[in-house]
Order: sequence, then structure tokens, then C-alpha cells
Amino acid sequence: MTLDLKVDGQSEDRAETYAQGILGTPEDRPDGHAKVSGAATYAADDLPEGCVFGMLVRAPGHGGVTVLNEDEVRGTAGVLAVIRDPRMIRNAAQGTANAAPVQGVDQADYIGQPVALVVAETAEAAQHAAQSLRLRTDGEAGPVNPDDVEAEGEPDTMGDLDAAMADAAHALDVVYTTPSMTSAPMEPHAAVAWWEGDRLTVRSALQMLKYNRNELADSLGIDPEHVRLLAPFVGGGFGSKLGISADAVAAAIAAQELGRPVRVVQHRRQVFETVTRRSETRQRIRLAADDRGRLTGIGHESLVSNLPDEAFSEPVSQATYFAYAGAHRVIGERLARLNRPASGSVRAPGEAVGVTTFECAMDELASEVGIDPVELRLRNIPDKDPHSGLPFSSHTLARSLNEGAARFGWADRPSSPRARREGEWWIGTGMAAAFRVNMMLEAEARITLTPDGAVVETDMTDIGTGTYAILTQIAGEALGLPVDRVDVRLGDTTYPPGSGSGGSFGAATTGNAVWLAAQEIRQAIAQRMNCAESDLTLKDGTAICGNTSRAVVELLDGASLEGHGHVTGGKAFQDVRQSTFGAHFAEVAVSDVTGEVRVRRMHGTFGAGRILNEKTARSQCHGGMTWGIGMALTENMVHDRRDGHIVNRDFAEYHMAVNADVPPLDVHFLDERDPWAGPLQAKGIGELGICGAGAAVINAIHHACGVRVRDLPATPDRVL
Ligand code: MOS
Repeated sequence: MTLDLKVDGQSEDRAETYAQGILGTPEDRPDGHAKVSGAATYAADDLPEGCVFGMLVRAPGHGGVTVLNEDEVRGTAGVLAVIRDPRMIRNAAQGTANAAPVQGVDQADYIGQPVALVVAETAEAAQHAAQSLRLRTDGEAGPVNPDDVEAEGEPDTMGDLDAAMADAAHALDVVYTTPSMTSAPMEPHAAVAWWEGDRLTVRSALQMLKYNRNELADSLGIDPEHVRLLAPFVGGGFGSKLGISADAVAAAIAAQELGRPVRVVQHRRQVFETVTRRSETRQRIRLAADDRGRLTGIGHESLVSNLPDEAFSEPVSQATYFAYAGAHRVIGERLARLNRPASGSVRAPGEAVGVTTFECAMDELASEVGIDPVELRLRNIPDKDPHSGLPFSSHTLARSLNEGAARFGWADRPSSPRARREGEWWIGTGMAAAFRVNMMLEAEARITLTPDGAVVETDMTDIGTGTYAILTQIAGEALGLPVDRVDVRLGDTTYPPGSGSGGSFGAATTGNAVWLAAQEIRQAIAQRMNCAESDLTLKDGTAICGNTSRAVVELLDGASLEGHGHVTGGKAFQDVRQSTFGAHFAEVAVSDVTGEVRVRRMHGTFGAGRILNEKTARSQCHGGMTWGIGMALTENMVHDRRDGHIVNRDFAEYHMAVNADVPPLDVHFLDERDPWAGPLQAKGIGELGICGAGAAVINAIHHACGVRVRDLPATPDRVL
């Protein structure tokens, strides 16, 4: 069954009437045991017979690359090949099939660019040989600092912001900065490649298989039909696995050249450099408001960076367009072309940093106006998208703010900073709104119903998000099967193409495709029961129509039924503005002695349409809020000002929030349905939790000790 959301924008909610009762419940992950017991085969596990080992080699400088001792390394015991194939560097532009690689092995555009692959009989020999390979680069660094170049791009303007600022009862004009950040998936990027004739199979750590297959085929110059990708388990993506990586392309080339399977695993320091970073940003935010805090103008202009020729530009102000009212606007990004490692999508590209800084500025405005920060947001909720004029598909910001404030206990808050002290610690609370655009892509799925249960197949991935669990629940709900009779199979391009995991669109998009596949099977069962599909109840393997009930197994009569689901991208883009919303609240303690900030508790209320699984959705929000704490307090990728290289490219020196930094995180979901999000009426939850989370912490620091930190992260030297 196909649903073209470009034609049919809104869908009816039928799930409520189904009887299985497992959609939305906090089911455990069916893949959980395999993952925690080590049985799950991630990209680099479970090697094929005769597999050998490749190690990428990084460029130590910029410009032309020469290898000085290639023959010597080739002659080392156990070394099979030193490969410098111009095809081996994937195009860093993520998710863009059929774009030619923009980097080669002879020219290093940034320090850390992979420029060779050494292959050996053992991983140790490969690592040793890779370290022995001596490279010379002959170039000077191109520009590596944002201030050294003329940036590209012009902001969008509406009305006259300068005049609005001049006339405003309250005007704020501030600059916030955020540093480069890494995606840091737990599983490093890795691939195992083998050929059978002209057929290539690659198991790799990837988010978007149908696109990745095209990218790999394109890099190699072969027919995508000859490529099979496998990614049954992926240990975190966060954007870094949206596109094919150098390890996969290099492994495929080496496997062909050697006629043996080849495994390439990037070590953590390589991941920092070869995988796209979140761009650093410098954001000028201007807010013009009347005497009651109603916005009349909004400026949000950002400077971001990427390599020359890369397509991606951090969309910092993506949510600023629709977040708040205000007629006069200057919004947009300028892109500096720098010879720093490539930037790309990192969890909630745009909003993660853009909403965070904007919500800090809103807190500053609330102080200026002298009203409560929650009230300031409530006064500025637009009744339609101020930029496009489109209505919202659903809007839950006010509910999020009100319910979140009540759950957090916001009302008890002293109105001025520096009002609570416990020993050396100033105590304060802060809040921020959360916004994340909602996207619906195209996806297909197949369900085969046999006497044993249902098998669901799609090349969708589970990057730790809970895809196996939610697709099990969706199929089980629609077909009246308990979860142990649904077998979800993912991560193989021989299955129907799913949406892939990215941009928070995976669960809702591929979930709708599974739902539609189940509808086709329901129709076939209803036909056999001589009733309309809408009158059919399926529960625990029994089909019920009116007074008749039959075991589904009997109806199958030993055969199987197949259903195919296909959902297209949404009309929501044309007819409505679709977003998820939320509100973050944090309490922090700031040491008056050291400037250390401890987050003491945090609450998030989120509206994202139907929640498909309470537990996995909550985990996504916990993860996002944890990133928010890291963004506010510790995460800081440092580029050397001389050559742009990443100085702190390991977890000893790049500080993510860890258990000791994270207090109990309380998450509440609004009961909501979005009719524009397909029959499941679920929007993406994956990235909402990070959007604005850091701002609640930064704003709480101000409330605690009176200090405004505008350069993130708020390390002790910036707080004291
Ligand atoms: Mo996401 S940053 O689109 O995986």
C-alpha cells in the first residue's frame, strides 16, 4: 500500500481502535540482549574467512602529498599492500549520492585527511606499518580561521530590523559563540568488504543504506546494483554515519586488489578527523521588543565554516524562522571556506547550537524586560509561521512550557539572580524552549505473515535509537501479534529501501511504511473473513469480525501473506510548518571558589506527536539532554590557529558529559497526535532533546551567580 503524503497531507488516526495494546508502551528492545551480551555483530565483528586488515594513514600537513618510504613499508613482514587510490576518499558531503569525491590522495585539504591505506595480515602489522609510513606534504595551510576569509551568503530579511531595534522599548544585540564539536559515536567507523566476482558486499557502520550504496558505487565507479551493504547493528551515528566513509571505500578497493576480504577500522583519533564535525559558530542575535516583551524584530546571523567545495552549511537558524513572532527579521548563515576538517550534520544540525544560543538571548531579554522567562516565551508564540505564513501542523510550545514548569516546580523560583546560596555554591534555575523541524522522507517496508508470525524487512538501520523495538510494536499492533511473534530484520540493502536513520525522520517515516505494509495484510485477512478492513479486529493471533472469530493461522491455510508499504515525503513541507516542541528546565550549583558548575536536576517536557515507545523515546531525550549539558559545560574541539588541525582528538582531552556530570533527567511526553505526520501521527523525537538543553543550563548559571556566559562551553574560567 502506498501513501503519497504529497497528495494526502493529513491522515486519520486508526491505531487507537486496534486491540493489541503494544504501540507506545515501554517495550524492551528485542535486540537488547544480543547487544549487551556481545552477540550482536557490529561492522568490524564476525570476520569472513581469510580476512586481512587495513589501516588508514592521515595527511600530516596540507598540500601535495608524497610518500617517502613506500617500498620499505611494503617489504615489511606481514604487509600486503600500500594503496593510494584516488577513489578511496569518500566525498565528505553527506548523504549526497552521485557527487564526485572532492578530495584526493595526492592533495591534502586538511590535516588528518586519509591519503593511504596499508593492508597487512594482522591488525597489529597494519597499524605498525601505517605508523611507519613517512609522508611529506609540501603545501602551506590555506585559510584556517573564520576571520581570515570573506564568508559566502546573505541572510534573509523581512521588514526593517534596524528601525525596529531603534524604536524598541527593549533592544538586545549580543554575540554568542559555540566551538566545533564531535559526534563521538561509541562504535568507531569501520567496514569489512569482500567481492564475489563483480559483486561487492560491505558491512559497515552506516545510517542511510540506500544512499550509502549509491555513494559507494559512485566512488568506485560501479553499478549500485552490484553493491550490497549490511549494517544490522550500528553503535551510534549522530550524523557521522550519514554518508559513506573512507574506511568503506578503501576496504572495497583493497579487497578487490588483493582478492581477499579486508577490514578497515578507524581508531578514535582518526574518527575525530575524518568524520564530519559540527561547525563552530559565531552568532549575532538581535532582539527588539515592546515594553511588555513582545518581539517586534529578530536578528540571527551566524558565521559557520566548511572545507572548500563541501555542500553542507550548518543551518544554525533553521528554527529561528518559525520559533517566535516579530515582523522585522534578518536571519541566515554565512559560510567561511576553511582548510579545517570537514563539517557536517551532527545530531540536530542547526537547532542544537542555534536554539541553544537563541534561548540564552531570550533569557537575557526576559531580564531586560523584567518578566519571567517562561512568560516571555508564552507572549511570543506565533499563530502561524511568521516567515512563510503557513499554519503549524500542530503546536505544543505553550503546553510544553506550562506543563514543564509545573513538573519542575518553576513557580518557586526567586525572580532575581544570586538569591540562593548553599555554602560555597550559588544555586539557580534556568529554562529554554526546544524546537526541531520535523521531516518525512520516503520509505518502503515488506511484511511476510506466516503461521509462525510476521517478518518485517527494510534496509532501515537501528543506530541505537530503538528501531527494532518500535517496528516490532508497529507491526504487532496492526497485525494483532504479541512482540515475540514479530521478527524485524534491518540493515541489508537486499530488503526494501527504508528511510535510513537521520534528521529524526527514521521512526516516523519507516514506521509509516511498516504500518502501510500491515494494512495490506489486514485487507487480505478481512477479505477472507468477508468483512471490511475497518471492521476487522486482530488480537493475539485471532481475527474478529462481528460475531465471527478465526485463528489467523487457519485463514493462512499453511501459506503466507505479503504486504508492502510505501510512504513518500510529506506535503507538510508545502502546506504546513511542522516541528516538534519542548521546554527544558535545569537547576545548577555554581562554586564561588572554583567556578565549577554542577547540574543538579533537569526536566524536559516534549511534544512530538504519538510516542511509539515510551522507553526508547525517553532514552533519546536523556541522550539529547546529556549532550546539552556537555555543550553548555565541557565540549570544545580546539583547532590550532596556525594550521586548523584538531588539537584534542581523543576522549581524554575532548570532554563529553559523563555519568558523574549528569543528574537525574526527568522527561515528560505530551499526549499528542500530528495528523500531518502520516497514519502513525508520530513526529521525530531523536534530536529534540538536545535542542535548547544547553541553554537551560547556561541560563541557570546566570540565575545562580549573575554571570552571562556567551562563549560556550561555560568552563570555570568563563564563569568566575
Ligand atoms: Mo542526524 S545529525 O541527521 O544523524
